[in-house]
Amino acid sequence: MTTGDRSPYWSEIVSRLDPYVPGEQPRDQQYIKLNTNESPYPPAPGVARALAGFDSDALRRYPDPESRALVDALAAGYGLEREQVFVGNGSDEVLAHAFHAFFQQQYPLLFPDISYSFYPVYCGLYRIEHETIPLDERFEIDFADYRRPNGGIILPNPNAPTGIAVDRASIRELLADTPESVVIIDEAYVDFGAESAVPLIAEFANLLVVQTFSKSRNLAGLRLGCAFGQAPLIEGLNRIKNSFNSYPVNQLTSAIGIAALEDDAYFHDCCDRIMASRKRVGDALEQLGFQVLPSQANFVFARHLEREAGDIYRALRENGILVRYFDKPRIDGFLRISIGSEDECDTLLAAMAQLLN
Ligand SMILES: Cc1ncc(COP(=O)(O)O)c(C=O)c1O
Repeated sequence: MTTGDRSPYWSEIVSRLDPYVPGEQPRDQQYIKLNTNESPYPPAPGVARALAGFDSDALRRYPDPESRALVDALAAGYGLEREQVFVGNGSDEVLAHAFHAFFQQQYPLLFPDISYSFYPVYCGLYRIEHETIPLDERFEIDFADYRRPNGGIILPNPNAPTGIAVDRASIRELLADTPESVVIIDEAYVDFGAESAVPLIAEFANLLVVQTFSKSRNLAGLRLGCAFGQAPLIEGLNRIKNSFNSYPVNQLTSAIGIAALEDDAYFHDCCDRIMASRKRVGDALEQLGFQVLPSQANFVFARHLEREAGDIYRALRENGILVRYFDKPRIDGFLRISIGSEDECDTLLAAMAQLLN
């Protein structure tokens, strides 16, 4: 529970923190939840089998601190060596360790002015200087803006909350231009139609790719994330992890993660369905007078050309539908709408049509 109460016992850093506020997880009513980019589909069928077959006696023991079985499954799936894979308790934790490991440098960390709102929070926690680089008027990244002295670069690809992706060739150029600092590509949403930077790992010692099981693997409640990079970068993450919590991935999480990775067909089918629904929702919103940014993620970012986003957000909420509204400069006209099941998309579009008429 967060109470907002202050204490005289807080250290200076705790007093100065500006913590991340996650999207609402309501307890009071059954909402159609399109506000935190969760998957509308259940985890792969093998996950339920792994849970049912799990030997609870094994929980007497600590898990493998190196999560070998899970790391090996990821390495095999992504064509990497075991030493090039790191796993953690959600990609938020993996990102936090990466900020800690790589970004306390002489020059500021760079990231877009509109991107994942956890990045500035980690900067506050780890006292990392940072500079935000404005996206252009189409909400796109101008890579020329990143050619300046920096202590690291982090980009979500696709970007959040815009959903706009960049291609691998642009990332390769960025990496070639930035050999002296670490570049993190946060691929939380990459499986919904964008190009992964993983094939660039062999070429660039300064590339770290971060992914999650929360979105395209339908496992947000599990808290499992991973990072891919050349062995020395991964070793840096392991040094931080082993100075913080030696066992971040518990035995159940590991077994479930492996089961999810085994079912490639189910994974692709869920992603395909979400991409098809995204097209349908985007087209319908345009018909209703929205500008919809081109999304390669499991959400759309849309602005109604006449109506206030905050008003639409509140009206949808009263109708039992949660979407995300950011009351922030440049994006306060937009709503971020996660792609739900077919039925949820129908309900959303019907509610939108009704309240906009
Ligand atoms: C861009 C981005 N990165 C990372 C995350 C964190 O995902 P998780 O901690 O669930 O793996 C999110 C979550 O919404 C995100 O939007």
